[in-house]
Amino acid sequence: MSLDLKSKLESLTEQTLKEIESAASSETLEQLRISVLGKKGSVSEILRGLGSASPQERPLIGAAANTAKEQIELALHARKAFFDHADIEKNLARERIDVTAPARKIYLGGLHPVTTTIRRIAAILGRIGFDIATGPEAETEFMNFEAVNVPKDHPARDMQDTFFLGPGVVLRTHTSPVQMRAMRARLGRGPVRILCPGAVYRVDSDATHSPMFHQIEGLWIDRGVKMSDLKGVLQYLARELFGSSTRIRLRPSYFPFVEPGAEVDVSCFKCGGKDSDRHSDARCPVCKGTGWLEILGSGMVHPRLFEMAGFKAGEATGFAFGMGVERIAMVLHDISDLRVFFEGDARFLRQF
Ligand code: PHE
Repeated sequence: MSLDLKSKLESLTEQTLKEIESAASSETLEQLRISVLGKKGSVSEILRGLGSASPQERPLIGAAANTAKEQIELALHARKAFFDHADIEKNLARERIDVTAPARKIYLGGLHPVTTTIRRIAAILGRIGFDIATGPEAETEFMNFEAVNVPKDHPARDMQDTFFLGPGVVLRTHTSPVQMRAMRARLGRGPVRILCPGAVYRVDSDATHSPMFHQIEGLWIDRGVKMSDLKGVLQYLARELFGSSTRIRLRPSYFPFVEPGAEVDVSCFKCGGKDSDRHSDARCPVCKGTGWLEILGSGMVHPRLFEMAGFKAGEATGFAFGMGVERIAMVLHDISDLRVFFEGDARFLRQF
């Protein structure tokens, strides 16, 4: 009866070894191990009959049980190692790195053409002593208009071209209020020579107007600054920006904060300004056959501004100029629609 237990163990071992051999995965092996060697497994089940065996037989059965366990464990172990190895091989095959594959393209972002244009102009004028100044985009109505001599009844104050944020506060329509801020801030502390780049806002939107665009304001105030200084600075800027043979011309114009005022044109850098008399089919695409490009407004700072800033009469003179950054970038890069600057289309931006 008890030798029965021994042969039960032997046939269990034989059977289990076969199952281990044909197991298809390490999960199956684990299930086998639990069902044969586990606490409630087949070996324990068989050994429960040990109580009815004689004292002489018991050690023989115990030894047989140990042998059975050892053989099964050994077989499990070997088969498990086979699966582990297969798993490693599989992973290696799947995770293989093809070192000959072409490298993935790295796309570095670039600076926006408005930014590069501002930086170029700031670098050019920085060389002759202009510092960067800033002012708020949400500006008081007073600073945006009155402080730069734009009277209450001036057409520029029309509700239609200004964004009002609330009583007395507007989105600045130009960078000129920074003139007054700089003059007040540096009053009595020597010359003022500043450049203010920044966003400005107007209720206006089409191919050449955007409700938000950028300007750069320049201001130079000192004793005895003359209109010829203005012309010299602008001539220098134009040559550095558009090429050494660039000429400028000043046309009389009106801006409330300057007197006299002038609009400034540069000779077309594409046709050299020679194209002005060609007939329309052959017109230069940049200047449209006029030979000139209008780029900025300028003039001698109006005495009213000195007075409002707290200067004594005749204490100083100065000039100011203001230009549209997108306008200059359009001319430099041959861009015909202003809106592309703000649409964020990568095909446009990648060209810079
Ligand atoms: N602020 C003027 C504009 O926006 C430009 C300008 C600036 C003109 C300084 C003269 C002097 O059109």
